[in-house]
Amino acid sequence: MLREEQNRLLKGLINHLDLKTNVDAGGIMRTPADTYTCEDRFNLEWESFFKNHPQIIGLSGDLAERNSFFTVEEFGSSIIAVRDSEGTFKAYANVCSHRGAQVEQEKRGTKSKFSCPFHGWTFDNKGDLVGYPKSEHFGEIDKDCYGLKELPSLEKHGFLWVHPNADGEINLNDLLGEKLEQEFEAWDFDRLILSNEDEYQTEMNWKLAIDTFGETYHFSVLHKDSLFQAFHGNCQMFDSFKRNGRLILCKRDIDEMRKLPEKDWQICTGTLPVYYLFPNIIFMPTPEGAFLVKEYPVEDSPHKSVSKISFYFYPEALEAAKKMEVSPETGMNPLEELYNAFGSVIRDEDYLVAASSHQGLRSGNLDFLTFGRNEPALHHYHNTYREALGLQKLPLK
Ligand code: FES
Ligand SMILES: [Fe+2]
Repeated sequence: MLREEQNRLLKGLINHLDLKTNVDAGGIMRTPADTYTCEDRFNLEWESFFKNHPQIIGLSGDLAERNSFFTVEEFGSSIIAVRDSEGTFKAYANVCSHRGAQVEQEKRGTKSKFSCPFHGWTFDNKGDLVGYPKSEHFGEIDKDCYGLKELPSLEKHGFLWVHPNADGEINLNDLLGEKLEQEFEAWDFDRLILSNEDEYQTEMNWKLAIDTFGETYHFSVLHKDSLFQAFHGNCQMFDSFKRNGRLILCKRDIDEMRKLPEKDWQICTGTLPVYYLFPNIIFMPTPEGAFLVKEYPVEDSPHKSVSKISFYFYPEALEAAKKMEVSPETGMNPLEELYNAFGSVIRDEDYLVAASSHQGLRSGNLDFLTFGRNEPALHHYHNTYREALGLQKLPLK
């Protein structure tokens, strides 16, 4: 993040702390209960935001080496993401051109060729059909017409984007806008290396999972014994960038950092930035790395979702972590334990109450959820979501 912007945000938080104020959306907003429970709404979301919208599927560090790959199953069709032998990121439908079987079953790995388990047709990581067994018996085909279907893909600022629709377009200027692109340019997310992955399936609408990241009003209650020890609750900054948002959560480390000359302030020391990347991504850079959280509906249901959480570290943090002592109980070094603990807070505290909210919404005893003046990220996300579906914006009360 640019130095000037870092200092503006840090000063804003210090000001809130000193004046005991918080960011203010200018009013209260209410979103109807059916935002989370309606089947028709869900079908509209699924078509608009998952099947026909560019998706961030990971970071450059997910494909750290040439000839590495991973598969993605979350948009209703299977995709193979690869870094080919020349280092280029590409994505293909994981659908064999012979009779449609899924070509690659593994979640991730390193290989330059993918062989279909049905009849053994083999494709390279440029998507070309390079061979099929018993060709003299099968008959002649034009191999050039039998490659894997390539999907639009883009690697920029350390993020990997795929469009699940082969005719779709990924336009970063439309998605992020110039200001957020400039901000991402000033980070070095392309250096991040994947360290761990976890996933939590929960009985709740996918947007409730997203909502839990949108405010720190709940820190002193829900996270009293966990995050609240390290964060000032109910104190944040918020900015929007087209359909995206950026919250700046206030760490208690800011209390020491503010005593230093401004030139030595670091945004990730004093705060936890939380990027809301529309429609379903939460991205949080830290001093040592980053968390990427991807939220998806499950089983075509508005009532079930999965959070896929990936932890990344910068190479130097990984090197330092290697020298730390590994706990005999967990098999993890202190850095991994810290990141794992963060994942546990999300799973055991945030998602637990979010699932309880979902039950409350399904009970029919609540007509709307209410977002306070101090929760502007939720105002922005929900009105953006509505605008993207052609629904009327929610007014402030
Ligand atoms: S379906 Fe893949 S080789 Fe036949
Ligand atoms: Fe939380």
